[in-house]
Amino acid sequence: MTDKQKQKKSARDQSITLPINLPDLLLSWYDRAARVLPWRKDCEPYRVWVSEIMLQQTGVATVCNYYIRFLAAFPTVVALASADEQQVLKLWEGLGYYSRARNLKKAAEIIVRDYGGRFPDTYSDIIKLPGIGAYTAGAIASICFEQPFPAVDGNVARVVSRIAGQGFWDNNALKKAALTSLAAIYPEIRRGDFTQSLMELGALVCVPSGAAKCDICPASGCCAAFKTDSVSLLPALLDKPSKKHVDITVFILMCGGDLAIRHRDKTGLLSSLWEFPNVEGHLSETEAFTLATDWGTHPSTVNSVKRQKHIFTHIQWDMLCYTIECAAQPPLLTWASRLSLSDRYPLPTAFRKLIAR
Ligand code: ADE
Repeated sequence: MTDKQKQKKSARDQSITLPINLPDLLLSWYDRAARVLPWRKDCEPYRVWVSEIMLQQTGVATVCNYYIRFLAAFPTVVALASADEQQVLKLWEGLGYYSRARNLKKAAEIIVRDYGGRFPDTYSDIIKLPGIGAYTAGAIASICFEQPFPAVDGNVARVVSRIAGQGFWDNNALKKAALTSLAAIYPEIRRGDFTQSLMELGALVCVPSGAAKCDICPASGCCAAFKTDSVSLLPALLDKPSKKHVDITVFILMCGGDLAIRHRDKTGLLSSLWEFPNVEGHLSETEAFTLATDWGTHPSTVNSVKRQKHIFTHIQWDMLCYTIECAAQPPLLTWASRLSLSDRYPLPTAFRKLIAR
């Protein structure tokens, strides 16, 4: 192992200690400050699970509506297990990270098949379900079953890094240190509330960069970052992941009021969703016209050309989009009316925003 690798490894194994009275401080604050949210009405595992999966990459304000619609369509794990996958994806449309929806359905099928429709109640069984990692398993085990397992998302990791007053090599090192240090101070009672108080503090008070509200923070008295005036600097990650940029050319092919779409592959990014036809790279207008001709669409005019970016976790798409009027609807493509495009086909935001008025 080189010196650099050794340094990286020891940075990854960095450990921290949290104040033992943190649960008391946060629980009494949580009793006063917790938001009333639809998934906090009870601790029923199916509902908590759906909310935690939705909340993984999406803010509370957006999730509320999706959550209510999703539970109205699939009120129980049995209803979700027997649902049509395209309907599940349609209800997820706009939330992004669609593998979350596909995994929810797969896991629901397993719960029905292997557990008779009752949600498993141990961390080790919960974490075996598809789409459930340490974060979601910790959230469900503590919130629904009062077990002492932390749930460390970005918000909670930031809280821990600041209270400990330490920066980290990367997100994995930070999450690992947060998990271990929190597990060591889990209270004997109100474990689910402690989990949610950490999430709530990270969402409302201990927010990113310079906006933290330390003047109202219940933990400021034991926060190393507050004491050393370094709140806005933490969590400092030394090794930030970079995004890959991909150029694509997207075709909005219009014919008699219909638009051409295609079903995406069953694997990879945005799998099983629908898309406007597209190719990698940026084509000139002439090249785009030629390709539309090769597809048999009899293009007549290029109505508009626009550029649009779409940012995923690890990739950024730089989209060059041609809107082309066509005279034929070759069966190689699916031709959808505007109405069916909004009611029937799950179309990811990256594409949907190209036709937004
Ligand atoms: N973010 C993730 N889980 C949450 C929860 N249970 N309540 C509020 N925000 C959250």
